[in-house]
Amino acid sequence: MTEPQWIAPGEHGFLAGETLYMRPLELADARYPAAWHFSPFPINPERAEEILKQDLPKEANERKHRLVACRRSDDIPVGAVSYGNLWSTLNMWVELHVDPAHGDGAAAMKSEMLRLVVPWMSAESHNMVVAVKLDAPEPELIDAMGSLGFRPALRFREAIWQGGNRHDQWFYELLHPAWVERLGDPGPTINLATVPPATSPGSRRVSIKRPAGPLPKNLILASERVALRPAEADDWKEGSRLLRRETETFYDRGRWLPSPVVGGHWVTEAMKADPPNWIPLTVVLRETGQVIGDVGLHGISLFHRTAETGSMLYLPELRGKGLGSEAKNLLLEYAFDHLGFHMLRSFVWGPNTRSQAALRKQGYRPAGGFRWESTQGGTFVDSMAFDLLASEWRERVGPATEGATA
Ligand SMILES: CC(C)(COP(=O)(O)OP(=O)(O)OC[C@H]1O[C@@H](n2cnc3c(N)ncnc32)[C@H](O)[C@@H]1OP(=O)(O)O)[C@@H](O)C(=O)NCCC(=O)NCCS
Repeated sequence: MTEPQWIAPGEHGFLAGETLYMRPLELADARYPAAWHFSPFPINPERAEEILKQDLPKEANERKHRLVACRRSDDIPVGAVSYGNLWSTLNMWVELHVDPAHGDGAAAMKSEMLRLVVPWMSAESHNMVVAVKLDAPEPELIDAMGSLGFRPALRFREAIWQGGNRHDQWFYELLHPAWVERLGDPGPTINLATVPPATSPGSRRVSIKRPAGPLPKNLILASERVALRPAEADDWKEGSRLLRRETETFYDRGRWLPSPVVGGHWVTEAMKADPPNWIPLTVVLRETGQVIGDVGLHGISLFHRTAETGSMLYLPELRGKGLGSEAKNLLLEYAFDHLGFHMLRSFVWGPNTRSQAALRKQGYRPAGGFRWESTQGGTFVDSMAFDLLASEWRERVGPATEGATA
């Protein structure tokens, strides 16, 4: 077994390098928000202080933390690392940020920050996987990742808008060597990525311009069989009721029992945000008017024009009949044509092969994934990531001349 690696503390603590040292955020850091505020939009010190007082404790409750990187020469904060065991206690997620004022020096600072925190997160803290998100990484930073033992895990094409151009977003992974020794090396996760599907029969413009017959109030788009409307808090009463009758256990880690109170709260909160971070839509079966599922856009960035798509049909007997793909095609049309998104992504649990098949059919491309994200029957399972560009979707389905409701 690999022994824990102990890093001796020096003058600036145990996360100190040649030019930088890392420490937890303090209230005085409100004077330097550009160093630790992970957003393209600026904030002033007053707002920064509010965030430090209110959001930092909330983030800590969600197992998310930030360390600020200070210059050794003058103790000025220049960047930050955000990290946490967000999805699984086995895996550490890391994001890097440098004050944009440092321009070309950012890659060197990020590389040094990683050299400081990674041995602490991997060798000392024994996280099974350390995964780092890199927006438009510079070659120098990629080299630093390689020298630390990281390998590419997934790439979201054109996900980042920076300096007037679009760039790829990468995730790199460091697998703990003791686990590689025990489980065998699964190889770089990026090997799961492929080129976009040559044909995607399920990728179609399915909306009907002037649909006849009963339609849900507040309609967004309708196809032959389904209609989308904004989710309402009460939809979760039906969702919760139907999911209690779930018969399938393979598509997630067992069955899911969402409370209508919690689901309703999520929807109510989502509707308050403008611009939104999550757009939850309800799928209605047109023939009966019944609520049968939901689709949505999560983790929305209107700056980068990207989002994650999600979908669920509540009744097992309605799955595998193309209804989910029909609803998803409406969602894609809404996201690309109406809201102007540039790229959409999706994550799927490894054993959920049906959802993966549905995404491929809808034209998404396997983009890589994450290793050992959860467990099943005494083994570790991966998750898969997918991406889809507006340009390739439009190439397949044609221009938005016909079919849009709005
Ligand atoms: C994911 C979901 C929304 C997809 O909708 P759907 O209506 O079932 O999807 P479709 O019928 O359009 O496509 C499913 C495809 O998977 C294939 N499929 C079915 N079962 C499969 C399995 N066990 N393994 C692999 N492929 C499978 C079907 O053949 C079909 O492909 P085809 O039309 O080319 O034959 C729906 O299945 C669902 O709600 N599942 C439960 C929740 C879930 O998994 N959500 C996604 C979480 S990431």
